Amino acid sequence: MDSATAEERSVSPEVGPVPPPLGVGASLAPSLVVLEHIRRGQDLDVYEARDTTRFCRVLVKTPRPELAHDPGTLASLEHEWDVLARLTHPHLVRGYELLRPEGAPPRLVLEVLTGATFEALVHDVGRLTLRELAQLADHLGSALRYLHSVGFLHLDVKPSNVVCGNGIATLLDFSIARPPGTYWPGLGTRTWASPEQLAGGELTSASDVWGLGLLLHLGATGTNPYDDGGEGLPPSARAPRVGSVRRLPAPVAAAMDACLERAPGDRPTLPELAAAFAPHLGE
Ligand SMILES: Nc1ncnc2c1ncn2[C@@H]1O[C@H](COP(=O)(O)OP(=O)(O)O)[C@@H](O)[C@H]1O
Ligand SMILES: [Mg+2]
Repeated sequence: MDSATAEERSVSPEVGPVPPPLGVGASLAPSLVVLEHIRRGQDLDVYEARDTTRFCRVLVKTPRPELAHDPGTLASLEHEWDVLARLTHPHLVRGYELLRPEGAPPRLVLEVLTGATFEALVHDVGRLTLRELAQLADHLGSALRYLHSVGFLHLDVKPSNVVCGNGIATLLDFSIARPPGTYWPGLGTRTWASPEQLAGGELTSASDVWGLGLLLHLGATGTNPYDDGGEGLPPSARAPRVGSVRRLPAPVAAAMDACLERAPGDRPTLPELAAAFAPHLGE
């Protein structure tokens, strides 16, 4: 499917015409045939493709054509593969390989996750049940504990980076995953990143606890108070207590609120968060 919009086809004064994504049947690599163009992001195109070496459908992330030689975009894809190649966990997307076809940009090949992004799910259902919230906390909490144990922070936990299907939540997009440390201000997505990410402070596992807490807040209330259709709170404001919008058991509400404490040291650890939700997993 050729899903380029008129805007994407327009001629930009700096970079010239922007090529549309590849159509159905086009070759991404000798072993990859396009089935569908899924999405065009700022830097990357995402395709579903048939993999003739695995005899199955795969997901392919690759630079947009006009960025095929852009060093930053190429480095980011190499970086994502470098992280993915170390990971094996039921709630983290599985990366198969990074192909470097001759005469074409690299193609990052991933398993296809079935289901909908958390973004689409919340858009459709509004609020999750307590049990669904507990499962989300369980699946993503376990994924993040594992990721942290192998030395990386995700730093971009947000609704478009979680796919939910068949009662399973899976975290994806390791494009900015990094070891704990201090980086530049603004690393991550403005309305989802922790205060220390926005400020360029020291990043620790607590930075991902913020992301998970905000995702749970969205699941419980239907809104991200820092986003809310562009009319959100300024980054320096404290989010409203979840209990002011949704009735939840006190330990759950307290743990969720604590995830959004501005000081990283005041947030719960992932095991503490898991303990608050554990009684509700089977309800
Ligand atoms: N393995 C996958 N299975 C299904 N959908 C995926 C997969 N990987 C990515 N997607 C879809 O493509 C979108 C963009 O992928 P992502 O890895 O987040 O790239 P970006 O770095 O452009 O944000 C996701 O929000 C999701 O909708
Ligand atoms: Mg993403």
